[in-house]
Amino acid sequence: MKRYIVLLGPPGAGKGTQAQVIAQTLNLAHISSGEIFRENLKNQTELGKLARTYMDRGVLVPDDVTIAMIEARLRKADCDEGALLDGFPRTPVQAKALDQLLEKTNDRISCVPYINVPEETLIERLSGRWTCPVCGYVYHEKNNPPANPGVCDKDQGVLQQREDDKAETVQKRIDVYWQQTSPLIDYYRKMGLLVEVDGKRSIDEVSQQLLEEINKKAD
Ligand code: AP5
Repeated sequence: MKRYIVLLGPPGAGKGTQAQVIAQTLNLAHISSGEIFRENLKNQTELGKLARTYMDRGVLVPDDVTIAMIEARLRKADCDEGALLDGFPRTPVQAKALDQLLEKTNDRISCVPYINVPEETLIERLSGRWTCPVCGYVYHEKNNPPANPGVCDKDQGVLQQREDDKAETVQKRIDVYWQQTSPLIDYYRKMGLLVEVDGKRSIDEVSQQLLEEINKKAD
């Protein structure tokens, strides 16, 4: 049976950082809705141009557009063993659409880790985030710095800051999370899928706890 894991948490909680580790360890496709939008934006596709008008304001891209994009992504061959979803679903409509999509193939979500981090830590993390445009690896100037400032350890890519990590957009993204995404915590808790992880701990400690919780759900 395929394995589907949904990583839940506010902007800056560490979803992308942890998804890279967990997807690789469990041999699952890592599907980040934000990354797919940013890739489209870079390639100037129609989807990218549309997404930009929402992302620049820190608000969500409409559900129908996002659901269609994820549905197409889940059909790709690298999802044969399942997928780790990072940043999707983000609204109750998206969550129901994902359930229905998986039902079609008799699949279901096996675990929803919720990375819980207080708001002041989120702001500190997002303002210090630097990403490699070549491999997508995520650094933090204090918590997880590269060996040489501004340069990726893996491929020497010149690190960049995200457009939507400006202070005013960050606050908007956090507000949108509380209004539109946080109801999913209860949605998945009621389904018996939610496991809460303390995201304030170190990156390695969070990875370890996530893997333990995910494996417990698989037993
Ligand atoms: P998206 O790209 O999904 O952004 P997000 O959810 O706001 O999350 P982030 O990527 O900002 O944070 P993260 O939790 O991945 O943290 P990270 O690991 O980088 O979405 C962007 C936009 O796209 C949205 O605003 C929306 O417009 C649109 N969008 C995307 N999905 C959508 C959807 N489903 N529906 C509609 N619209 C959608 O870590 C952050 C920093 O902290 C890094 O520097 C990292 O090194 C550091 N760090 C991580 N963990 C730790 C730790 N344990 N200790 C210390 N530092 C840490």
